[in-house]
Formats: sequence, structure tokens, C-alpha cells
Amino acid sequence: LASLADVDTPVAGRHRVPDRHAAVPPSAPGAFANTPDTDPSVPEHRVWVREILARVPDSTLGAGIDDARVHDAPTLDTVLRDAQRAGRAWGARPAADRAAILDRAAGVLEAHRGALLEVMASEAGKTIDQGDPEVSEAVDFAHWYAELARGLDHVDGATFVPDALTLVAPPWNFPVAIPAGSTLAALAAGSAVVLKPAAPAERCGAVLADALWEAGVPRDVLRLVQVDEGALGRELVAHPCVDRVILTGAYETAELFRSFRPDLPLLAETSGKNAIVVTPSADLDLAVRDVVASAFGHAGQKCSAASLVVLVGAVATSRRLRSQLLDAVSSLVVGDADDARTQMGPLIEPASGKLLTGLTELEPGQAWALAPRRLDDAGRLWTPGVVTGVRRGSRTHRTEYFGPVLGIMTAATLDDAIDLVNDVDYGLTSGLHSLHADEIGTWLDRVQAGNLYVNRGTTGAIVRRQPFGGWKLSAVGPGAKAGGPSYLVGLGSWTSTRATT
Ligand code: SER
Repeated sequence: LASLADVDTPVAGRHRVPDRHAAVPPSAPGAFANTPDTDPSVPEHRVWVREILARVPDSTLGAGIDDARVHDAPTLDTVLRDAQRAGRAWGARPAADRAAILDRAAGVLEAHRGALLEVMASEAGKTIDQGDPEVSEAVDFAHWYAELARGLDHVDGATFVPDALTLVAPPWNFPVAIPAGSTLAALAAGSAVVLKPAAPAERCGAVLADALWEAGVPRDVLRLVQVDEGALGRELVAHPCVDRVILTGAYETAELFRSFRPDLPLLAETSGKNAIVVTPSADLDLAVRDVVASAFGHAGQKCSAASLVVLVGAVATSRRLRSQLLDAVSSLVVGDADDARTQMGPLIEPASGKLLTGLTELEPGQAWALAPRRLDDAGRLWTPGVVTGVRRGSRTHRTEYFGPVLGIMTAATLDDAIDLVNDVDYGLTSGLHSLHADEIGTWLDRVQAGNLYVNRGTTGAIVRRQPFGGWKLSAVGPGAKAGGPSYLVGLGSWTSTRATT
């Protein structure tokens, strides 16, 4: 806590975004106000961001993760049993109490926006413009799940029975928003949480946990735990005290978890291989902007990223969109996350495996429209790649590279384009750029993905307005959507009270 306070307690107003809530948004009954991102057009915000960036290279935030390391099975067992006990007491408290703590958490997360941005840039290579919406989303999750918790105790004659203990296993690519969302949802539903951050972004998880404890989440109800993958990781997932696992990660990880414990109640948001289709009726300037942001934001390290663009009919045969797209991608400034000029930051770890293949090897029929170049010795900084001639069924068509490579495919008709989009194992996000109502209708009817975006990028779902979750192999478990109206109802069980009333 001391470390967070050092960073974000205003010292003569230096460290906090000045007056970020001076303008109170109008609220309507039943409306939900999403919290605003930092606004770079405000001069004070720019000064504040520069101060954060100056701290990034030497940042030690999140060092508390070292206290959370568990090295042996007996200690892990004790942690989980204690958490289960605490969870039973937490779940017995009135939902309104839990909701009040979540509302406080929203304020504390907002107050520590600077610390969260600093640790995301320092540890995960997130540029400020990519990290900032994560903090906003975390704040929104706190308010939204508080609201849902207030209506959870009794629904239609049934009573909600919370889980006692939830294991939250988030990814490293959204190292604040996703662990915050999963943790806050479970807490709101009345469960204790063991938060095990992804190893490459574990300090982010520690800063988040600090903020939630500061807001009043009891320390025994939220436990921060770090274990090495391997025997102890397996023990954590399979432990009988764990009632449910909320996982966000690769599909293979979900399968692995299930192999550890076949009856595991698992709510997993998994991989994606997402496309944006552009038809001849589209506003091409808008399409270029959204494809670039969706493909190369956070260097493409998003399950929601668009790693394919499918050009339809005249858009495929004319040079116009391609040349605009290549100009826009070539213009991206690649650099470190602590450099304010950077538009596309580094990979979290040196490229390896399928991503390295995607960055360096062409398949039959393919050509680089823009060949990725490695800019550092380690292999974390790459210029963005664009590959043309991507064939149906190829590796680039169907494999999630999780990095800055965009494949261009072509289709004669919108129906053909939809067939290409659906011919992948996953179904997470999907985008269409079209100004034609019939095309939009056809695409909405046929495309197989959890989140569909028309004339908008495929990343950056907004709490309540755009609940987020996948279809096909992009979801394992009940498929509830994060940030949506029914996310909490699956985080426990229901008993009918009708017979007794
Ligand atoms: N919710 C994120 C997005 O929409 C992905 O996890 O980009």
C-alpha cells in the first residue's frame, strides 16, 4: 500500500490526473455511466502522463508479489482452506455490503490510475493509450458488478448460493482489466478469490490486489498467490476447495485445466482468430483506421484482435484500400512503452513458436506487403507485418499468432467472405465494414462469433454496452459474457424457494 500511496497521493497535485471528474456526466434513471479515459487533449493530463512515463524504467511497483509466492503443497493447501472458510463468511454477508465495497473499489482503482499505468508499462510493455482504457474498464467492472450483486440474492423465486472459493487465472495481455473483472465478479457474487496472476504480468496483479484491499476487500477473502507452473499449478487448479475457475487464456490452457480435474466448473474465455470484412459499400477511411487499431493495438497481443482482413469484390480488386492500409501500417511508430511517441509497443516476451513462424515464414502463395523487421536483439520489438495471398485453410488463416501480423484475404462476395470468417475453430470477435443495411443484416445472421462489431474495431468492448465473450472454441463453460447482465448468475448455484413460500 505504501508503494501505491507514494505514487498516487497528490503531492501538490502532481501525481493525479487533475480534475478528471470536474465535469459530472448527466445520469438518467437506469443508465450506467462508463468512466472516461484520460484525455490527451487536456494539457494537465499530458503532463501527468509524462511523469508516469519518467517513472517507468525504474518502477518497482508490484514488488509485493514476492510475498505471495507459494513454494510447497502444504502451504498452498492451508491458503486454500483458509480462503474457503473466509469465502463462506463473505458469501453470508448481505449482497449490499459486498456491493458497497465494490463501489469503493471503483474509486480506489480510479485514484490509483497512475500506478496501474506505470506498472502495466513497466512490466507488460503497455503504452499509456492501451493501458488507460484497461483502468477505465476495471472501474466500470467494479460499479457494474456492484449493481448486479444488489439484485442477486433472490431472482424469480430462486435463491442464489454463492461459491465459497473461486480461482481467478487471468492472462498477461490485459493485466489489469481482466483480473479485475474476474475478481470483482466473483467477490460480488459472494465468493472468496485466489488470484493467480499470469507470470509475465504478476506485478500488475499485485498492484491490483493492493488497490482492492485498500478499498476494504478483506485480506482473507482476496488472496494473491503466485505458483510456478507444473506440479504446484496443477495442485492449485485441481484442489477440492476450489469451487470454480475463471480462466482467460489460450484454449489449450483450458484443456489442460480440464485434464487436471475433469469435473472442474470452468468459465473460460479462450483464443480467437478474428477478421474484419470490408465490402465495397464501406467507408474505406474508417475501415483502414479500425483495421489498423484492431490488428496492431498492443502489438496484436489481444484475443479480440483482428488478425485477418477480408476484402470483398471491388475492394479486393482495386488498389485503393490496400495502398491506404499499407501507408497507415507503415506509419505506425514502433518503440518502447515508456516513450511517449510510441504507437505500437513491444511484445511481452521475445517472439517464439507460432508467432515467430508467423513473423518470419511465408506459406505457398503468400507475399509480404510489409515484412516484419526485428528491431532489437531480444526479439521483443518488431515492425508490423502485412501478408497477402492468404489462402483458405492455411496456417495464417486459421492460427492465432497473437502478435503484429495481419493477413489479407479476398472474396468475390460477402457470402464467400463470411464462409472464410467462419472456417476457423474459434469465434470470439468479428468485424464488418459496410454501409449497406442488407449486407449488415446478412452478416449479422450468418457470422459465428460472440462479439460482432459493425463499422467499429474488434477490440475494446465496453462494460454493459458490449458484454464480451466467445463462441465455438473461444469459450469453455457456460459462455457467460463479462460485463453483461447475467455474468454473476453463473458464479454459484441456485435453490428453488418456491416450494417453501
Ligand atoms: N475485452 C477485451 C477487448 O474487447 C478483450 O479481452 O478487447
